[in-house]
Amino acid sequence: MSDIEAKKPKFYGRRQGRTIRRAKTFLLENYLPSVRLDACKIGKLAQCFPEEKQKYCLEIGFGDGEHLAALAMDNPNIGYVGVEVFKNGVANLLSLLTGLKEGTDADLQQDIHLTGGRADNVRVFDDDVRLLFSALPEGMFDKVYLLFPDPWPKSRHANRRFVNPENLQHLARIIKKGGILQIATDHPIYKKWVLDTMRGSEDFVWTAKTSDDWRNPPHDWHETKYQRKALQEGRRPVFFEFERI
Ligand SMILES: C[S@@+](CC[C@H](N)C(=O)[O-])C[C@H]1O[C@@H](n2cnc3c(N)ncnc32)[C@H](O)[C@@H]1O
Repeated sequence: MSDIEAKKPKFYGRRQGRTIRRAKTFLLENYLPSVRLDACKIGKLAQCFPEEKQKYCLEIGFGDGEHLAALAMDNPNIGYVGVEVFKNGVANLLSLLTGLKEGTDADLQQDIHLTGGRADNVRVFDDDVRLLFSALPEGMFDKVYLLFPDPWPKSRHANRRFVNPENLQHLARIIKKGGILQIATDHPIYKKWVLDTMRGSEDFVWTAKTSDDWRNPPHDWHETKYQRKALQEGRRPVFFEFERI
């Protein structure tokens, strides 16, 4: 058992959903091993990418991966680490990164898609990000995205919320000074929770100068599945940006 497996924290979300179809199963089996974050190299993160990148960013809980895949394609000079526990989400990200869709013959497309994916600047950790925290180099990331984290709205579940003092300490260590922690949420309880918890941190300051700064998404934003769901159900998301000081 590796060190990482030995200290598994309790995870309360889902690890797998519906049956994963053929092309995505193919990607999980054949493509994921080539882009999975290599546990031995985490301490030298830059070496996990085919070449040194100008900057490194982390997305925690990327869900279906739309935001991460689009950013990666827009910014080939940035190295992205995507972390997600939910296997169906990981499979979807791989499909976006390679362009391999259901309904095509995965085996025949192997050569095309596995040698020349659309984006080779994403490395994936398909487990709980808390397992990674202490292994990641200090000050590694220019930006960390935490988009629509599970709100766990019942107060008896508040200790499951990802934004908490312990995780913030880890994030403060891995985000460089002047770097950004971006948190989006649509849940009224979580909006207040984030602001209250962040106010208690000595490592981050909220960058907003006017309400437009948190009501509107940043200029390079790509809509996520949970953001769409929130808008359809009449909830207005907020986009908080905190600077590591
Ligand atoms: C509500 S979903 C939002 C997904 C996506 N960011 C979006 O906006 O569509 C939260 C996601 O975070 C993932 N997640 C929660 N805690 C996590 C953790 N500790 N490490 C990695 N992923 C986590 C869950 O599996 C889930 O897919």
